[in-house]
Amino acid sequence: MELLKAIYSRRSTRHFSDAEVTGAVVEELLRAAAQAPSALNLQPWAFAVFHGRERLRAYSERAKEHLLATSDPSFGLDPRIDRYASSAVNIFHDADVLIVICAKPGRLAPVQDCFLAAQNLMLAAHGMGLGTCPIGFARPWFNRPDVMEEVKIPSHYTPVLPIVVGYPAAPPPAVPRNPPEIVCWHWDD
Ligand SMILES: Cc1cc2nc3c(=O)[nH]c(=O)nc-3n(C[C@H](O)[C@H](O)[C@H](O)COP(=O)(O)O)c2cc1C
Repeated sequence: MELLKAIYSRRSTRHFSDAEVTGAVVEELLRAAAQAPSALNLQPWAFAVFHGRERLRAYSERAKEHLLATSDPSFGLDPRIDRYASSAVNIFHDADVLIVICAKPGRLAPVQDCFLAAQNLMLAAHGMGLGTCPIGFARPWFNRPDVMEEVKIPSHYTPVLPIVVGYPAAPPPAVPRNPPEIVCWHWDD
């Protein structure tokens, strides 16, 4: 897929087909993610990979419980809170594969670098006919020390962005963008 077309047409996918994502495909995505630029080329990322709809459904229930128990009270005003309380809602959108990008400690800009790797991964997936969706709601739960120990994420790493991956059931809807706000433009003729 031509790069600009990929950038303009990537959208978060929240409805996945039953088509299986193979381990080989996930490895390809991780290699693409690792091509991202990073401060001093320190490449401060690591990847935790989870497969299986049942596993992700169970994680969703636990992550929602954590979210509801720890949210700022003002979050309770958010009408979405009722949806999270329902067991019908799977915050991983019933995907079969979840990749959690983790930042390694002691580097210059590990979180920023991880987000660049995330965008690489999502664009590569799009180019391969896959859909992705970042799942920020799952991040606090993955940062719990007991959960990190359970899933075997090293305790000195920081989960920064969970991303679900799968084949889209249908093309995701267009999501509008604002024109870029230019606060200044100093340009010598
Ligand atoms: C840091 C981050 C966290 C996000 N968390 C969630 C999430 O928990 N659940 C979800 O469905 N989408 C989540 N999204 C997706 C955004 O809602 C989506 O990117 C935005 O609405 C723009 O739509 P698009 O990705 O289709 O262009 C997240 C995106 C980012 C960048």
